[in-house]
Amino acid sequence: MEKLLIQGGVKLFGEVNVSGAKNAALPILCASLLTSETVRIDNLPHLHDVTTMLTLLGHIGVDVELDEKMGVLLCAKNVSCLQAPYDLVRTMRASVLVLGPLVARFGKAKVSLPGGCAIGQRPVDQHIKGLEAMGARVEIDQGYLCVSAEQLVGAEIVFDLVTVTGTENLMLAATLADGVTTLRNAAMEPEVLDLAKCLTAMGAKITGAGTETIRIEGVQSLNGFDHAVMFDRIEAGTYMAAVAATGGELLIKGVDANIINSITTKLAGAGAVIKHEGDDLLLTVSRRLSPIDIKTAPYPGFPTDMQAQFMALDTMADGTSTISETIFENRFMHVQELKRLGAKIQTQGNIAIIQGVSSLAGAEVMATDLRASAGLIIAGLIASGETAVGRIYHLDRGYERIEEKFGRLGAKIKRVTN
Ligand code: UD1
Repeated sequence: MEKLLIQGGVKLFGEVNVSGAKNAALPILCASLLTSETVRIDNLPHLHDVTTMLTLLGHIGVDVELDEKMGVLLCAKNVSCLQAPYDLVRTMRASVLVLGPLVARFGKAKVSLPGGCAIGQRPVDQHIKGLEAMGARVEIDQGYLCVSAEQLVGAEIVFDLVTVTGTENLMLAATLADGVTTLRNAAMEPEVLDLAKCLTAMGAKITGAGTETIRIEGVQSLNGFDHAVMFDRIEAGTYMAAVAATGGELLIKGVDANIINSITTKLAGAGAVIKHEGDDLLLTVSRRLSPIDIKTAPYPGFPTDMQAQFMALDTMADGTSTISETIFENRFMHVQELKRLGAKIQTQGNIAIIQGVSSLAGAEVMATDLRASAGLIIAGLIASGETAVGRIYHLDRGYERIEEKFGRLGAKIKRVTN
């Protein structure tokens, strides 16, 4: 098993290259299922979740040609198997995103139910409700969702809560439905908008993506496309939180200031100096930050995927901070691990109260989920002495070469196998 060893207490300086967004890449890869023409996707991040999705598409019968620069050519002309097996869905819940396009183009699909997940129950009832509204029959058979419809029909769908992949799955499905689909209370995440851009390039008729009402007029067929995946706002935010925690200076190029506004506003409010010049961002932190209170919420609110990293940052703030997690019911598993480094944190239901301390001390900790792992790395970078972060397979699902990128900022971090 691999782990990361970190010698903390070093200020970080330099530039980081942010990769393509995992959460945009996964639905965009699934869009390839909607056409028999070849599609090209560039700026894919080199991550386990992307490899899992490519494996799943290959299993379905899509021709996959990956080049060494993480560009991929996909052709779903000869699809042979309309199934997503348990082994692939179990490791990556976003596999459920093949459901919408497969049913829309081929009339049926069988996808393993994602099941429970460490950070919460994460049901797919909203995906099912939407597909049923579009005329699909949905049955559950031996742990598989079996969905069929000769022809999906446009429908008015109101989500009971904001769901990112739910919005994406139904948007994918509606592109080939007969008639108009309206998605209300839709997710407004930039990754939904990136998918909509890509579908529009395929000939889909979509308006309102990026707002809470999306209108999709179904078309008979879609064509190939060429798309570069947008930047990963969570990766950018993670490096910003790390530099804010250790002190130092960070340059990131190619980030849209509007998209990361909820993160930069919090950092600036706590005393970080942030300058934007076009798509370049310069963050300078030369003093201990003030406490940062956050409440996670769907976009444009503060992302739940940045909660663990900000909790690590708050352990060193000059005072007491409060974090309220409103998206996932069990996303505080990093608290126990942060306490092992000397953090003072109390939780009451979905609220964590973090009392800043003057120093953390290195220890052995264990990653519990993808973003929690990033929080533990940040804590390790602050802590004096050595921190060993175990179970980093979680990290490799969503961060590309994290130890190299931190290494280039001056961090003392290395991957070891024991
Ligand atoms: C996506 C992101 C993930 C992020 C999350 C919230 C991808 C691949 N993943 O996950 O990184 O943490 O958004 O921003 O884009 N829910 C239901 N029924 C459903 C669907 C969701 O009750 O049918 C609930 C979930 O349990 C959760 C909330 O809705 O409490 C939001 O989940 P959702 O937005 O669907 O998360 P994902 O799309 O899985």
